[in-house]
Amino acid sequence: APVIVLAGGLSHERDVSLRSGRRVAEQLQDAGVEVLEHDVDPQLISTLRSHPGSVVLPLLHGEAGEDGSLREVLDLLDVPYVGSTGAACRVAFDKSIATRVVAEAGIRTPRQVALPHEIFRELGAAALVRALGEQIGFPMMVKPSRSGSALGCTRVDQPGELSSAMVAAYAYGSVAVVETFVTGTEVAVGVVEGPDGPQALPAVEIRPESGVYDYAARYTAGETRFLCPAEISTEAAEACARMALDVHETLGLAHLSRTDIIVDEQGRPTFLETNVAPGLTPTSTVPIALEQAGLGLGPVLLQLVELARG
Ligand code: DAL
Ligand code: MG
Repeated sequence: APVIVLAGGLSHERDVSLRSGRRVAEQLQDAGVEVLEHDVDPQLISTLRSHPGSVVLPLLHGEAGEDGSLREVLDLLDVPYVGSTGAACRVAFDKSIATRVVAEAGIRTPRQVALPHEIFRELGAAALVRALGEQIGFPMMVKPSRSGSALGCTRVDQPGELSSAMVAAYAYGSVAVVETFVTGTEVAVGVVEGPDGPQALPAVEIRPESGVYDYAARYTAGETRFLCPAEISTEAAEACARMALDVHETLGLAHLSRTDIIVDEQGRPTFLETNVAPGLTPTSTVPIALEQAGLGLGPVLLQLVELARG
C-alpha cells in the first residue's frame, strides 16, 4: 500500500505545504517507496478507501490542517497517519492555548495576552495600549493565534504601531496574541521519534539577512543563513534540546515536532512556539538538522510511517 503524502490544503500556507510535499515525495520515491501525492479535495476520502493499508503523511501547514481537523477525519476513516493526534494538534497549534499549557509545565515563555477581535474592537487600542505597555512592554510581538510561517506577525516598537499590527494579525484569524519580544539567538529544534523514543535533533540557528525571519526570509533561498550546529554554547544547546523534548511531551505530541526558541545572552532558552507539521521545504530547518545528525529525511519519514502503521 502506498504512503499518501497529503499536501496543499486550504490555509494561507498552501504553497509552503506543496513545497514540503514535493520534497518529501521525491525523497520517499528515491528510497523506493510507492507514494501518492494528494491534496485536500473531494476525491480524498475515496482515494483513502481504495487504498486499504496505506499510511497518510500529513504535510498540511496552517489552519484546517495543522490544527488537527483533518487528522480527526482520518481517525473517523480509521486511516493511520504520521504525527500527533487531532486533539494534541488543537492545543499545540493555537498559540494562546499552547503557551499557557507549556508555561504551566514550568517552561519559560514570553509574557503573553490573547485578544479576541471583539474585545480589541470594543475596548479600543488607545485604552489597551497603556496596560499592554505596562504588562508586556516594548518592543512587543503581535501574532495571529492560529497561523504559521510568520504570516500576520509584527514587531511593535511603540504605542502608535499597535493598531495596525492587530489588524494584520486579525487578517489571519479572530484571536491575536501580544507578547514580550524576546531578544537573543533564534534556534529551531526538531524532535523525531525513533526506536528509543523521542530524540532532539541538533539546534539550527536562524540568521535572516534582513534581521527579520518573515515569510520571504523563510522561503527565498539565500535570504537566511542557517547554522547547524548553532553557534551557542554546549550548555545552551543541551537546554534547548531538553526544552524541545519537554514541550513535545507536555503537549502530548507524537512522531515529529519542531520547537522554536530564543536563547538569551546567558544561554537561557525561552519557548516561542511549537509546530506539529514542521516545514520540510528546501529552506526549512528540520531537514537541515536531520542532515547534520547524519539521518536522511526519507529514511526518517519511513521510520515514522512504520511507527504510525503500529
Ligand atoms: N509553519 C511552517 C511550515 C513551519 O513552521 O515550518
Ligand atoms: Mg509555526
